[in-house]
Amino acid sequence: MRTKPILSIETALVLKPIGVFDSGVGGISVLKHIQALLPDEALLYVADSLYAPYGNKTPEEIQARCFAVADFLIAQGVKALVVACNTATAAAIDAMRARYSLPIIGMEPAVKPAAEATKNGIIGVLATVGTLKSAQFAALLESYGRNVEVVTQACLGLVECIERGELTAQTTQDLIRQYCAPLLAKGADTIVLGCTHYPFVRDLITEVVGQDVVLIDTGAAVASQLKKRLIEVDCLASSPASGQVEFWTNSQADNAKHVIENLWGRPAPIALF
Ligand code: DGL
Repeated sequence: MRTKPILSIETALVLKPIGVFDSGVGGISVLKHIQALLPDEALLYVADSLYAPYGNKTPEEIQARCFAVADFLIAQGVKALVVACNTATAAAIDAMRARYSLPIIGMEPAVKPAAEATKNGIIGVLATVGTLKSAQFAALLESYGRNVEVVTQACLGLVECIERGELTAQTTQDLIRQYCAPLLAKGADTIVLGCTHYPFVRDLITEVVGQDVVLIDTGAAVASQLKKRLIEVDCLASSPASGQVEFWTNSQADNAKHVIENLWGRPAPIALF
């Protein structure tokens, strides 16, 4: 007599987790939007902090790290991948989509929404060197930046401050002041947070640029795009899926666990990878 499988293949796929990763802890800002929009999904987050920042690495180096992390997440059985990093998306998303067959969601600085939101036609973009130098960013400006003035600013050192968990330290404040100054001098009324680490210092940035300057990031848009893709491929979890969130990090810092829990906002299972 044949016994019926407990779970159909389709149900088993729906219950699989979603893999989310970044060069470090920045992508947790995106993870929060994903969990808010898709609370039933099991989420696995990898912080590749030992190799952060990606922003100063070559596209080949970044691609190699993205493959290593994606291989790890795929070995954990994920049904989709979110590259919660603008720099990694610019350097590696095409190569990743060519190599893997599962849905892969990437992200880019919010130039389009900023160009739509600006009132005076001047937008600022804070991002990493890697993002600003990429062909993808040039294409983004070509498509959406034509009718506005775009002032770009690479923020060297800021990712490292956030990786160390120094969200309000004097060094962090000084860097933010230094990097926002050129944008303010040009009169930007809208600023794109073009790196997933920066939403964690949003309050400091607001203090420097003032309440009237609109800050835009893409965390919510990425979560919506992920939901759309999961519906398209019939993989969206619905209750009673686990909704569990697990973290992995390769950081060697003593306070790595504390930094992750502080940014996530509550205790979480964290393992070394
Ligand atoms: N969080 C990343 C981004 O969105 C990159 C930070 C880095 O490693 O340089 O671009």
